[in-house]
Amino acid sequence: MVVVQALHMNGGTGETSYAKNSVVQNKIMSIGKPMIEEAILKLYSTTNNSPESFAIADLGCSSGPNTLLLVSHVMDIVCRRCCQLDCAPPEFRVFLNDLPWNDYNTLFRSLPAFYNTLKEDKGSGLLGSSCFIAGMPGSFYGRLFPRKSLHFVHSSSSLHWLSQVPPGLDSKSTPPLNKGKLFISKTSPPSVLSSYALQFQEDFTSFLSSRSEEMVPGGRMVLSFMGRRSADPTTEENCHQWELLAQALHTMVIEGHVEEEKLDRFNAPYYSPSPEEVKSAVQREGSFMIDRIEILEVEWDGGSNNHVVSNGTSDNLTGAQRVVKTVRAVVESMLASHFGEEIMDELFSRYGNIVSDYMSRKRAKYDNMIVSMTRKSY
Ligand SMILES: C[S@@+](CC[C@H](N)C(=O)[O-])C[C@H]1O[C@@H](n2cnc3c(N)ncnc32)[C@H](O)[C@@H]1O
Repeated sequence: MVVVQALHMNGGTGETSYAKNSVVQNKIMSIGKPMIEEAILKLYSTTNNSPESFAIADLGCSSGPNTLLLVSHVMDIVCRRCCQLDCAPPEFRVFLNDLPWNDYNTLFRSLPAFYNTLKEDKGSGLLGSSCFIAGMPGSFYGRLFPRKSLHFVHSSSSLHWLSQVPPGLDSKSTPPLNKGKLFISKTSPPSVLSSYALQFQEDFTSFLSSRSEEMVPGGRMVLSFMGRRSADPTTEENCHQWELLAQALHTMVIEGHVEEEKLDRFNAPYYSPSPEEVKSAVQREGSFMIDRIEILEVEWDGGSNNHVVSNGTSDNLTGAQRVVKTVRAVVESMLASHFGEEIMDELFSRYGNIVSDYMSRKRAKYDNMIVSMTRKSY
């Protein structure tokens, strides 16, 4: 699978779009807000800077209501701080990054309204400052920006996507190693677990060394992504959503709608690391210091009974329906490129029944990791 092409959130603003189905990721961003505030305030107090031009990058920004939340949050914190310090707010250079197949058209079309809101928001202290937003398509596992050009880097709900399926699992010339599964499961052989762990280490190290070139000394980075508390990657919190999706596909294999070989050959380019795995990559790469690392629980459906959608009304969905729509908006492009577009409605309908049954018996939750780091100044 070529991840750069196959992985993109559902574009546009329709019923199955990421824009309409990203309330859970919005919740995850809200949980990360205090850590972002702490990082920016430290950046302003420790460096001799109120830079004239403050550069922010949001990596894996997608498109939809979440995309510009980070920008307004950071601008708000910086401007309040400048007000306290009695200095003029900086200009903001904002870089929104995602893979090239991301729906940048919808994103760019939302910018005029965003700029208008900034102008109208007279109470925020933003008057006099300017914001310049640009898109930066490409993989965050390589260099994206010039050297020492960024003050603050953020990424939310994105770094659990690997750059590729671990090579040992993606080879057509060897028998499938992870039969009947889409990701690590209780029955996966140890070689599957170690291939995933190795791919994460390689990818996360490339991520860190690219950012280490791009950030100013003392710059801060807050990253939030799916993680796990346990050293064991086969726990239910870590893999059960993939397990249930595999069950839905398995019913379609039994009824002849999907070839067994296709199911056996799909492995998700995904990994949710433990804090030890993250710490060990950071230590080995050497350019960053971890200020804080936390794991927080997030319910599969985002946690509240009714979700308010953009026009202020409730979405009136059951928890399971919301889970299915959230998962579909994220993984449909990848599954469609492997299994075919034509089975998607049926697959997600079956998945819905399985998720509904599971959620009637269990409290379904993920573990989300948030890490705050500083670029060392040596
Ligand atoms: C679930 S969305 C998160 C969007 C947004 N940050 C939010 O919190 O709502 C994950 C995004 O990460 C992007 N992504 C995954 N791998 C990436 C990579 N290697 N480089 C850049 N973006 C990537 C995907 O294309 C997707 O848009």
